[in-house]
Amino acid sequence: MSLRDIRRLSNEKMLVAPSILAADFSELGAEISKVESAGADMIHVDVMDGHFVPNLTIGPPVVASLRKTSSLPFDVHLMLSNPFSFVKPFAEAGADNITFHVECSDDVGGTICEIRKYGLSAGLSLRPRTSFEALMPYIGLVDLVLIMTVEPGFGGQSFMRDMMGKVELARRAASSTGRHIHVEVDGGIDEKTVLSAAEAGANLFVAGTSVFRSKSGVKSAIESIRSSQSVFRNLRD
Ligand code: DX5
Ligand code: ZN
Repeated sequence: MSLRDIRRLSNEKMLVAPSILAADFSELGAEISKVESAGADMIHVDVMDGHFVPNLTIGPPVVASLRKTSSLPFDVHLMLSNPFSFVKPFAEAGADNITFHVECSDDVGGTICEIRKYGLSAGLSLRPRTSFEALMPYIGLVDLVLIMTVEPGFGGQSFMRDMMGKVELARRAASSTGRHIHVEVDGGIDEKTVLSAAEAGANLFVAGTSVFRSKSGVKSAIESIRSSQSVFRNLRD
């Protein structure tokens, strides 16, 4: 098992994955080093094809260059209509987890097998309008479920609190497998919204804008997202 394997990371702990979509693209390596020294648990890389979502971002060559700058796991989120053929290039570029969307045009089970073929952990995601049932047939096959809390495509959008029911379903389904499955949320996460998501059962939090554009600095932004676990526990106790 690779040292960067996300399956080794506890799903009992709050994990923070800064999304480089909100970083300064002219100095991505330095931005990643900054969040790595500030305590990030992994780096979230958003890949968009201009078809599945109306935006374009980065591809495997950029990930391969960034791989040299960090020892953190790379959590690659493929917002692509045809993720299957991109598994190999992203695996070779240094991805540790690959998450793709259940709404894609490729065979979902086959794409999960392709991710496994390269020894990576596999994640499956849902757009806000897709019901959780669409993911259920695959729950036993994945290491991570990503519940989108914004419409995929852009950073800086508002958190959709009405997705919390889906997060609860994901946590329940994950627990029922008896396996270690991360429940990740992505979109509009900050020190306030993280509370609802943690309460609903998420353990892995993607945060772009609230980390990279934080006025108080990336370290304090990451710490306040992570420390909400204790706030949540205190509220519950
Ligand atoms: C949206 C992306 C997110 C986004 C999160 O399509 O999947 O990862 O970058 O950005 P913020 O935290 O700014 O909502
Ligand atoms: Zn994402």
